[in-house]
Amino acid sequence: SDEIRDQLFEIHEWAAKFYQYLLLEHKLGKNALKYFEKRGFTRATIEKFRLGYAPRAWTALFHFLKKKGYPDYLLEKSGLVLPGKQKNGYYDRFRDRAIFTIFNLRGQPIGFGGRVMEPDQNPKYLNSPETPIFLKNQNLYGFNFAMDQIRKTGQAIIVEGYTDVITAHQYGIENVVASLGTSLTENQARLLARYAEEVYIAYDADTAGQKATLRGLDILKNTGLIVKVIELPDELDPDELIRKNGAEAFKSLLEDAISFIDFKLNKILKQYDLDSPDGKVQAVQELLPMFLNIDNAIEKDYLIKQIVKR
Ligand code: GTP
Ligand code: MN
Ligand code: MN
Ligand code: MN
Ligand code: MN
Repeated sequence: SDEIRDQLFEIHEWAAKFYQYLLLEHKLGKNALKYFEKRGFTRATIEKFRLGYAPRAWTALFHFLKKKGYPDYLLEKSGLVLPGKQKNGYYDRFRDRAIFTIFNLRGQPIGFGGRVMEPDQNPKYLNSPETPIFLKNQNLYGFNFAMDQIRKTGQAIIVEGYTDVITAHQYGIENVVASLGTSLTENQARLLARYAEEVYIAYDADTAGQKATLRGLDILKNTGLIVKVIELPDELDPDELIRKNGAEAFKSLLEDAISFIDFKLNKILKQYDLDSPDGKVQAVQELLPMFLNIDNAIEKDYLIKQIVKR
């Protein structure tokens, strides 16, 4: 019901305040603050994105929220605490993690991601589960901050992770959102299409990122968006690239972005030996479904010409 949703918003607002207080004001958060600073986030960025710290204790957030008067069943629904294995009691989902607040379009906190601060700890990220106010397949991380710029430019850039979004925004590239590792959904594509005509995919250069790029391409294309792919050099992700080489380096990759058609064409043609007749036949067979899926006559023509040329 609306009343439950309202209370879940409140609980998340309290939790965001709690995590942020620990990060910025409490000695328990010192290490996490150092972690975020080492990653290059400024104080203004930390406050804007409402970064925080979840303490190591098992029930710190639970007791904080109980004191605010919320019943157990609501706290459990929020996903921020989990029922204990013993017959009663709850424990906090996020413990000893650097916290990223996830917002809805209106900028209200609706979930969190928690990152380990030491290398080789697993899982690297823990995320809030789905709840009545956090529908994962409809949310894009950073959209509340990116919306204006996306509308203004007609362009959006989609990246994989929290830190890619945060660093891009800190460096003044403000039309960036993240699909948070999961593969892009139709609902997310439709949300983008309400504000943008053109979308750039800037996923990580590793195998996982490249696979996600291929899936994301088709989904974005099918919502009628113009889709381009940014190819990142040297296995860097956008966060690492921008911090290492600056915002201008990232912007020049945008200018070099390749079209949906060229990206797929290259991927497919690379797999076959185009000097042999067999290789040619196999490549054409794999290109056929892509050809049939294109409605636009100019794009169809372009694809044919490219195939003949290659
Ligand atoms: P950093 O290592 O902090 O720079 O994060 P990243 O964003 O570069 O991570 P990566 O490219 O590995 O993953 C992209 C996104 O996928 C992250 O921002 C998370 O949202 C999500 N993700 C990564 N690792 C995990 C994991 O172990 N579990 C879950 N549930 N999500 C993850
Ligand atoms: Mn990745
Ligand atoms: Mn990974
Ligand atoms: Mn990264
Ligand atoms: Mn990454």
